Amino acid sequence: MLTYHHTLSAAEYCALRSAVGWQSLVEEQAQSGLDHSDFVVACRDGEDAVGCARIFWDKGYIAYLADVMVKPEYQGQGIGKRLVEACIAYIDGQLKEGWRIKIVIVSAKGKEAFYEKFGFQLRPNDRDGAGMQVWRT
Ligand SMILES: CC(C)(COP(=O)(O)OP(=O)(O)OC[C@H]1O[C@@H](n2cnc3c(N)ncnc32)[C@H](O)[C@@H]1OP(=O)(O)O)[C@@H](O)C(=O)NCCC(=O)NCCS
Repeated sequence: MLTYHHTLSAAEYCALRSAVGWQSLVEEQAQSGLDHSDFVVACRDGEDAVGCARIFWDKGYIAYLADVMVKPEYQGQGIGKRLVEACIAYIDGQLKEGWRIKIVIVSAKGKEAFYEKFGFQLRPNDRDGAGMQVWRT
């Protein structure tokens, strides 16, 4: 049975990264990222973590949705949708009168249409440039 939780160990997070083919992180860095996330949601099949997502938020107007991952053999069952909805609901719950919060996602290639279902707008568009990033090592 699939259940949703707010705990995820660094080892489970690293295993999910590996399952979806993402670059590995040293466990200390993974743990630090989890510790400093404002919201973590994990889907479990029994004890096994099969998907996760997390949010960090500046307590002002910017939030970042990161690491939306579902193990390949569990994809296409609505798990990713539940995980993203939980993250969005967390941010909605932080809104105060007159506030607005922008949730940012850097979509993996080919996953843009998945995020569009939740209202995320593609960049570049008429108003915004493309998202950009730099890795520091
Ligand atoms: C992207 C990902 C999280 C989707 O998770 P999932 O559990 O397979 O998605 P769901 O089953 O919840 O799908 C929800 C909806 O999105 C659609 N969808 C899923 N993946 C899609 C894609 N790549 N492109 C377009 N639509 C997609 C589904 O058809 C479904 O549509 P519906 O609600 O109209 O039926 C998953 O494929 C994944 O982990 N991929 C590898 C890691 C990755 O790239 N993550 C994104 C990081 S930015």
